[in-house]
Amino acid sequence: MIDFPAREVRLWDGERCRYTLSTSADLVATNIERREVDWSNSLLLSMRFTASRIGPYNEFLYVFFKCLSMERIEYVENYYDSCQDDGQDIVLDGWQVQRRCPHLRADLGRFGQIEGEVLTCTLHGWRYDLTTGRCLTADGHDIRASAVS
Ligand code: FES
Repeated sequence: MIDFPAREVRLWDGERCRYTLSTSADLVATNIERREVDWSNSLLLSMRFTASRIGPYNEFLYVFFKCLSMERIEYVENYYDSCQDDGQDIVLDGWQVQRRCPHLRADLGRFGQIEGEVLTCTLHGWRYDLTTGRCLTADGHDIRASAVS
């Protein structure tokens, strides 16, 4: 078990987990022995696993399995740093929201659609609750938003 919050790898004792990925011990041992840096290609594409999750999709988990070397993790950390909000806002249908989509920085002035209190970025369909700023599609991608009075 990889316990990210506790920063440890340990035997799973049957506790409830947010993400469960089960495969044979042989496949895991082979990946470790070969020092594979992209388990997405070396294991997940084989489809020889079962998976489940509680809650929304977390792209960081799958990115982690693609970046199992210092070089790759540094690259991806720099990429996410460069995606940070640039502070620009726009007004869209009575809401002031940040201009760039937290997913891949699409211009929400062009790709944003608001229905009720939900903003959808039509480039990839990610959705945001404007009242809280919470991303409804994935964790860790909240948006800055407030109602224009
Ligand atoms: S860039 Fe907005 S959903 Fe992908």
